[in-house]
Amino acid sequence: MRGILLAGGTGSRLWPLTLTVSKQLMPIYDKPMVYYPLSTLMMAGITEVLIVTTRQDQEQFQRLLGDGSQWGMHLEYAVQERPEGIAQALLLAAPFIGDQPVALILGDNIFHGNGLGTRLAENKGLSGARIFAYPVADPSQLGVVEFDEYGKVISIEEKPQQPKSRYAVPGLYFYDHEVVDIAKALRPSTRGELEITAVNETYLRLGALQVTVLDRGAAWLDTGTFEALVQASEYVRVVEQRQGFKIGCVEEVAWRMDLIDDAQLRTLAGPLLKSGYGAYLLDLLDRPDGPHDVAGRRTRAAAGNRL
Ligand code: DAU
Repeated sequence: MRGILLAGGTGSRLWPLTLTVSKQLMPIYDKPMVYYPLSTLMMAGITEVLIVTTRQDQEQFQRLLGDGSQWGMHLEYAVQERPEGIAQALLLAAPFIGDQPVALILGDNIFHGNGLGTRLAENKGLSGARIFAYPVADPSQLGVVEFDEYGKVISIEEKPQQPKSRYAVPGLYFYDHEVVDIAKALRPSTRGELEITAVNETYLRLGALQVTVLDRGAAWLDTGTFEALVQASEYVRVVEQRQGFKIGCVEEVAWRMDLIDDAQLRTLAGPLLKSGYGAYLLDLLDRPDGPHDVAGRRTRAAAGNRL
């Protein structure tokens, strides 16, 4: 399965913060925002990812993430000239997707929760589409999914004035390769965008849309406003300090997913020692309280679900 990480857009809701720096490079506590969605894709078992950015920001993303080989990944880059909709990324990515299924994640969406990695990895052989639903207090600025009394999906609407439910659609979408043809057939919405909600509606009409409700144990955080940005940082800080495990730490995820070995993790830690980030990575190699399998042996994979 291929991954697309969408990190374009103007970030205008965060101006002047994002006038010169991409929103998805803003700090969320101790790491750049893009680390979080990238690590989510990695936990889903995806190692080939296309990073879609604006033309002006591409170089900075390349400087930060490189070709991904340091994390056992393969990263490619594409430019979205204008922010003409989330679904446009699927068109840009068409040659990259080929005949593979694909996961699309928004670069400003943060997911965290027990068992999330395992659940996401189940989408590898997907036919049709799988999206998620998450209850929020006010979904009117998001995609909203409506269920009938049996839990069957009735409708999906983008930013409805009067939401038909409290279930918002997070920015993580799994599709089979048919999605490229579906995206090609889209026309711009009244706000001039190729809407991802229209893609999901097409799958719904075809009877090929699965919606999984993320339970309350999972956190889905928005980062679109000043308030949300600070709240996300605060969430990460509190959980990391309390548990002693980092959220969205790409180096750790790469190591736990067996994409890199102990020696590579040690090498990655070197330049990061001054900030304390590197010490955390080194500490993973030698934790008495580290992950253990059922037999009590220390293992990397046993803690994969924590991430
Ligand atoms: O966060 C989840 C929500 O994301 C979904 O519930 C909605 O259905 C979906 O439309 C989207 O809503 P937003 O209003 O949050 O979308 P926004 O325009 O802010 O774009 C989300 C991210 O995608 C943002 O970081 C910028 C990036 N983006 C967006 C567009 C429209 C691009 O890179 N290119 C684009 O053309």
